[in-house]
Amino acid sequence: MKIAFSNLSLPKSGALVVAATKGSKLTPTAQAVDKATGGAIKRAMAASRFDGKKGQWLEILGPSGIDADRVLVCGLGNAAEMSAKGLQNLGAQAVGKVLTNGTKAMTVAMDPLKAGRKQGMADGEAAAEVAYGAGLSSYRFDKYRTKQNPEQKPSLTAVTVATDDASGARRRFRTLDKIRQGVFLTRDLVSEPANVLNPVTLAARCKELTKLGVKVEVLNEQRMHRLGMGALLGVGQGSDIESQLVVMQWQGAAKSKTPVAFVGKGVTFDTGGISLKPAGGMEDMKWDMGGAGAVIGLMKALAGRKAKANVIGVVGLVENMPSGGAQRPGDVVTSMSGQTIEVINTDAEGRLVLADALWYTQDRFKPKFMINLATLTGAIIVALGHEYAGMFSNDDMLSERLSAAGEAEGEPVWRMPLGDAYDKQINSVIADMKNVGAGRAGGSITAAAFLQRYVNDTPWAHLDIANVAWSSKAKPTAPKGGTGYGVRLLNRLVSDHYEN
Ligand code: BES
Ligand code: MN
Ligand code: ZN
Repeated sequence: MKIAFSNLSLPKSGALVVAATKGSKLTPTAQAVDKATGGAIKRAMAASRFDGKKGQWLEILGPSGIDADRVLVCGLGNAAEMSAKGLQNLGAQAVGKVLTNGTKAMTVAMDPLKAGRKQGMADGEAAAEVAYGAGLSSYRFDKYRTKQNPEQKPSLTAVTVATDDASGARRRFRTLDKIRQGVFLTRDLVSEPANVLNPVTLAARCKELTKLGVKVEVLNEQRMHRLGMGALLGVGQGSDIESQLVVMQWQGAAKSKTPVAFVGKGVTFDTGGISLKPAGGMEDMKWDMGGAGAVIGLMKALAGRKAKANVIGVVGLVENMPSGGAQRPGDVVTSMSGQTIEVINTDAEGRLVLADALWYTQDRFKPKFMINLATLTGAIIVALGHEYAGMFSNDDMLSERLSAAGEAEGEPVWRMPLGDAYDKQINSVIADMKNVGAGRAGGSITAAAFLQRYVNDTPWAHLDIANVAWSSKAKPTAPKGGTGYGVRLLNRLVSDHYEN
């Protein structure tokens, strides 16, 4: 979908979106349309319950007196109080209304209303947020459909946001559109089935970031073996496909500046291994690489917008399969840190992968902080539903910054506890630790306690995204399926606090 900006004027064809604020107050463009159509908007308002409240929509088909073939009136409520999220939702909802209904082009008239003024947004910036929302909502993963009927295919190919500050809008949109591209990459990777996306092919997708100036290293099993990564390698040993550890580096600041690091769980398929999962719903485990997917999309966004920060992305890529060569319950493995782990349940594999990926990252890069993302536990769905990701951290400042970034981007996190009482549950009778707690209670927390044993003293946060990486419900800015969760959150964290 093509997105562009223009000055405020009425389009020659297609759909036109105009706005009203609370109390049915029409914007100047809406007034002009109302006048040209002989009062069509006011009549439509009188015939409905539309009064300009936020989220209300009114649709007028085939109005006479103007060139546009439909007019959509959008309620803004109090324009000055609109947030970036609200403006994005406006753009996204507008696209949703016309995406497949035959409309080819849509113009959104953003009159100079000082929308988003309370958040310090200029008119051009507000217009850019509308365009960003339109872009985010247009995502499709259609590559495996060969028989879609024409009515299901999007008809909309172009969105124009009309504003008095088109050049300001274009400037802001350049950055936002790079973030969108990162989100789309994450959605693509998460949606891809596991016969196509495996540790080797996913590593190859990481390599593509080289084009943007990201340095990408791929460590194969031999290299990881030499580094002593017995925890990660044990998970992948039942698979015919080699495990990989991918290290991505974006240098956007002076070489001497300490980097920040993001680490992702990349289990390209999680059968559970010998502790096999039940058949029902197992297909969902193709998205058990959602943490890695978020890190890869984040690197794309940061490099794309040339972030002024040094950023490390590390993803541990494995396939958890049962086979004659697979790891058994009861096996003991030695991690790169030297700590030994009794593998009680081969389905608690994500923490084993992250144990080595986290240790490696802090050991090699000594980052300012380390944040890992993982579809780690089913228990986080029980705890938090699908609204907030679970956040565990040893650092209050990092937690607060993540919470604020999450609220601003609509990718919220909820802090969960850590502590000795949980930690001691993973002590083993014969090794330094075991990979599950005592029973199912607090399952997300004992998983986090396990990870904490591999971060040394590095400021760290673990985001359990098993409840938000995939959605069976569409949102305005994200259709069903891979959400791309984490890219926007972490991009915002970096831009708000870790760039020059
Ligand atoms: N990948 C799963 C967690 C998961 C479950 C993600 C459902 C998304 C939806 C993880 O590897 C896993 O299997 N965790 C187990 C841990 C248990 C064996 C201690 C779980 O959550 O049941
Ligand atoms: Mn598992
Ligand atoms: Zn898993």
